[in-house]
This record gives sequence, structure tokens and C-alpha cells, in this order.
Amino acid sequence: MTELQKEIGRRRTFAIISHPDAGKTTLTEKFLLYGGAIQTAGSVKGKATAKHAVSDWMELEKQRGISITSSVMQFEYDGYCINILDTPGHQDFSEDTYRTLMAADSVVMVIDAAKGIEAQTRKLFKVCAMRHIPIFTFINKLDREARDPFELLDQLEKEFGIGTYPVNWPIGCGVSFKGVFDRDKREILSFSEMHRGQDKIKPTPCDITDIEKMDELIGEYQRAELVDQIELLDGASYEFDLEKVRKGELTPVFFGSALTNFGVEPFLENFLKMTTPPLPRLSGDKEISPFDENFSAFAFKIQANMNKNHRDRITFFRICSGKFERGADYFHMQQGKMIRLSQPQQMMAEERQIINEAYAGDIIGVFDPGIYSIGDTVCSPKNKVQFEGIPTFAPEHFSMIEQKDSLKRKQFVKGVEQIAQEGAIQIFHEPNSGMERVIVGVVGVLQFEVLEHRLKNEYNVDVIRNDLPYSYIRWVKNKDVDIKKLNLTSDTKWVQDFKGNNILIFTSEWNINWAIDKNEGLILEDFNRN
Ligand code: G4P
Repeated sequence: MTELQKEIGRRRTFAIISHPDAGKTTLTEKFLLYGGAIQTAGSVKGKATAKHAVSDWMELEKQRGISITSSVMQFEYDGYCINILDTPGHQDFSEDTYRTLMAADSVVMVIDAAKGIEAQTRKLFKVCAMRHIPIFTFINKLDREARDPFELLDQLEKEFGIGTYPVNWPIGCGVSFKGVFDRDKREILSFSEMHRGQDKIKPTPCDITDIEKMDELIGEYQRAELVDQIELLDGASYEFDLEKVRKGELTPVFFGSALTNFGVEPFLENFLKMTTPPLPRLSGDKEISPFDENFSAFAFKIQANMNKNHRDRITFFRICSGKFERGADYFHMQQGKMIRLSQPQQMMAEERQIINEAYAGDIIGVFDPGIYSIGDTVCSPKNKVQFEGIPTFAPEHFSMIEQKDSLKRKQFVKGVEQIAQEGAIQIFHEPNSGMERVIVGVVGVLQFEVLEHRLKNEYNVDVIRNDLPYSYIRWVKNKDVDIKKLNLTSDTKWVQDFKGNNILIFTSEWNINWAIDKNEGLILEDFNRN
């Protein structure tokens, strides 16, 4: 095996998703503690402390005390080189989260055991399912009152149409939480309050038929319940099938408590074994292997104005194949010319470091003088490839904006275009009109405030904003359709994006159904790939 194959083969790149407050930050932090990337609990969590020093790049973010952009962290564990793509917990920034998922090879989905699947998880799952990437479920907060575990599995199966395979099974919850039973190893990892914060918990091997020992460990009542439940699971649940896991058809489920550090290590170990090394990516019809020695990468995230005075931007690339070398010249497909990726850097938990090399699976941030857009490909000039773009997801809020002072037109256009290029907003216009008035679409309403704030602070433009009543968008996929002739409800609006695609925006799903029912052959899609 070559050095390149060895390095790429030990990489695991995944994203953690959850509804806010399910415990994503806490779990990430425990992973980093195991990997020795941080020394103390609280360094990731501390919304007002350490993390801010590196990831806070906007006044607004500081004022609100929320982390707007996703961060990327790399650490080593047990011979693996792990890249965690953290996704913003705040509900409002899901667009960025969607794109982050495009850079991941698998996903860890954290679910609050008392709440089950929540709104944000639902949306994110849809994106994961579209890519058929492996999904691992960590059902968290078993130290608190929780829903019946069968009910939780049932919800996952019914709502997400995915099979579940519980790797371990909880023994009680809340005050009567006794630990988890490992179905494969047939042993109990017992929980006690004493374990809080402890790193290693030794499992107790036990034969489920050894009544005496089991009673001693978890009590008679819970033993009887566990035996029944395991029997039911072994008989009726899905069989473990790694192929299905890797295709995203079966999710391994783990129960635990991130806060008390219970079940985190077994989860990490199992997860690393089951998940995949970097996956191949498509360039047209051709599959590009991560082990191909020619470097290639695509941009999935742009973070602007880390430093307000310089209006600088960092573009994050996911490396898809080969090895990146600092100082080498690469080809930027969209510009059609050679470039040098300058100031390449990586996030090592709390620090940003300039790096000299990186491998397929890794994420690098590079200084961007304003030349990259989301979805761009850079590659070795020896083997030119172009990865498929990142789909544009449906915004749910729309607003009409125009500049207050017409003399500021140039700055207005530049600001709106640049911010759209970063992917923070999507811009549309009324057919046959230009940039006088722009319709802005966002996934979360906070983005409107971010936009106003940035236009004022970075481009010196005040805007007038008129929120529009629409909340649904559909791209018209038929190329030859005359939109004016369509039978649409009066509150459906026709707009275009700046590539000339026809788009309809609606106030309700009822109106979408009307458009589909009354116009035979009309194809509407809620995301766009070009
Ligand atoms: P998020 O990133 O998904 O938004 O969630 P985060 O980790 O910030 O956790 C949300 C809250 O849930 C935090 O409490 C956290 O301590 C708590 N939590 C996480 N995992 C567990 C668990 O396994 N058991 C219990 N009981 N609680 C858990 P908080 O009060 O909002 O914050 P803090 O005061 O602890 O900082």
C-alpha cells in the first residue's frame, strides 16, 4: 500500500446533525476529548469563550451569541484521521448546513430521546437521503425521562423510510437508567451517576439467561423487561447489513447520554468501523476515486469577512481525490485557468493552522480574492474533472429589496451579488427587469438581517426591505413552457434567477397543487442543480 492510499484510507469525514438542543455540541466535544484535540470540557460548548476567538467573524454573530457558520475540525483517534463537519445549531442557518452535508461521507444524527424526530432533523435528513450516504443515529439524554425506545425506532422507520438496527439497547431511562445492553457482544455497560465525566467505563459481560447475575446488576424488574425486549428485537428487527448501512438504507442506532459521557466511546468505535473512508464523487458520468493520485476538490462553503477591514473571504474545499500540496499550481475549472490555492489552512479544534499537505477526505480553507463560487472545482491540470454543482435548496422566505439612495447602485449590485455568490442568500428578479429591485430568498429569516447588516457595514448601502408573503419555491423544469399561458392562482408569482431559469413562488402548498393539477406536463422541483 502506498503512503497516499494509507493516508486516504484512514480518513473519516462526517457531519453531525440535530435539531437545536438535542446535544450535538456536547457529543462533538466528547469526540474531541477522546481524540485529545481538546483538554477540557466546555471549550467547544462555551458559546461565549474559546470558540468565538476563531469562528466569530461577524458583529452580528457576536451580538447574538450564536454561531452562524459551520466549522470544521480534524483530530486523530485510534489510527483514524477524523474530520468533523459541525453544522450550525441555529434553526436559521440551514442553507449552510445543507451544503456542509455535501462535503460529508456520512452523517451522525443526534436525537433527543424525550422528543424524537424534530423539525430540523427532518429537513436535514431529506438532504442525506438524497445522497444515499450512511446515517448513524445517536439517541441522546437517556439520563433523563425518555420515550419508549421501540416508539423511537418506529418513528425513524415510518418517517424516514429507513431500516433501524439498534446496536445497543437502553435499560430504563431517567432516574432508573441502568445502562445499555450491547446486542452483539451480549454485555451490559452499566450506568451510574459516578461515571459522570469519566472516560472509560468497563462493560460487564453477562449472559442474559444468568438471572442471578442480571438481577444483581440491574434488578429483577428491569432484567425481566430487558430479556423480553431483546427477545423481541432479535426476533423481529432488521438484521445487521453493512452494505445497507453504507447505502443509507439502514441506520445503526445507539443509545447514550453525551452529557454524562455515557455510551460515547462505544459509539465512536463502532461508528468508525462501520462508516466509510472517503467516497468516490461523480464528474459527469465518471466516478473519481479518492485514491486517484491526481488532486481534485470542490468548494462547499464560503466564509466572508473574517476581517472586516480587508473584506477577505475563505473558501472551504472538500478534497475528493489525491493529495493537496501547498505551493503547487492547480486548475480552476470555472475560470478555466491555473491558480495557486493561497494560505491553505485547516481547523484543528480550536486553532487555525497553515498546512503544507492534505488528503482526499480532508477539508481545507483557502484565501479567496473573490474568484470562487459554491460548487466550483479545482484539480490537477493533468486530469481535469468537474464535480456536479451543489443543489440550490428551496428558500422559505422572500423579500423585495432596493437601495435607498439611487447613487449607491453600483455598491448595491456588487454587495448583493457577492453575498449571493457566497451562498448566504439566493437572488431573483421579476421577468424583464434587472437589478433595480431584487427578490431575495432565504432559508431562515435571520439571513435578511445578516444581509441588511452586511450591506450597510461592508458596502455602505442602506436598503428598503419589503417582505413578501410567499413561502414555497419551485423551479420550472420544462424548458419550452410559456409561463404567461399557465393556469396559476392569482397569488402565485413568476420570477427568474440570474441564470434565466423560470421559477414560481407560492403562498401555500395548495397553490402548488393547483399549478400541477391544472397544467398537464408541468414539472416543478424544489431544488435546482445548475
Ligand atoms: P446542540 O448543540 O444540539 O444545540 O445541543 P447542546 O450540545 O448545546 O445541548 C443542549 C443542552 O442539552 C445543553 O444544556 C446540554 O448540556 C444538554 N445535554 C446534552 N446532552 C445531554 C445528555 O446526554 N443529558 C442531559 N441531561 N442533557 C444533555 P443547556 O442547559 O442548554 O446548556 P448548558 O447550561 O449545559 O451549557
